[in-house]
Amino acid sequence: MRTDLEMEKQLAAKEAVKFITDNQIIGLGTGSTAYYAIIEIGKLINTGLKIKAVPTSSKTRHLAASLNIPLLDIESVSSIDITIDGTDEFTEDLTLIKGGGGALFQEKMVASITTLLIIIADSSKKVDTLGKFKLPIEVSCSACENVMKEIQSLNGSSEIRKSSNIPFLTDQANYIIDADFD
Ligand code: A5P
Repeated sequence: MRTDLEMEKQLAAKEAVKFITDNQIIGLGTGSTAYYAIIEIGKLINTGLKIKAVPTSSKTRHLAASLNIPLLDIESVSSIDITIDGTDEFTEDLTLIKGGGGALFQEKMVASITTLLIIIADSSKKVDTLGKFKLPIEVSCSACENVMKEIQSLNGSSEIRKSSNIPFLTDQANYIIDADFD
């Protein structure tokens, strides 16, 4: 089953990269599904594709650099032609939860200036109602307590994401609050 899901991710990635043409600026998502798209783009670069790419995390930046994908900083671009990214959940009407991998802020920055945002996912990500996956919210550390109170006032529960027992820090040195609205 797991292997099937990996194959679905790869298939989705292969389809998504077909939209890319020469001289475009491409946003590169983060996560185990976007990974396959980045690998495919790396292969296309090797066979002559001419694009530049904006990564959504330091992890994606390193992967893309290792594949010789020419990179741009988001500060230097005003628009991105196509972004290919993953999702934690999606519904039939294409609403999403993203940010499970902790690259939320950069992913949103990149998505906000993207003309065509392609979200790729395996079939396990499809849900009837969003919320099986906790909603990741990236917050400045100093705002954390207030945001958690706000979530409580909306009848939600929340916790600060931890990694090895200490708060997980994003590339922007923010916290991620995982909120549950049941
Ligand atoms: C990264 O912050 C996320 O938004 C990912 O795109 C999302 O978590 C999907 O990741 P996977 O493809 O690893 O499931």
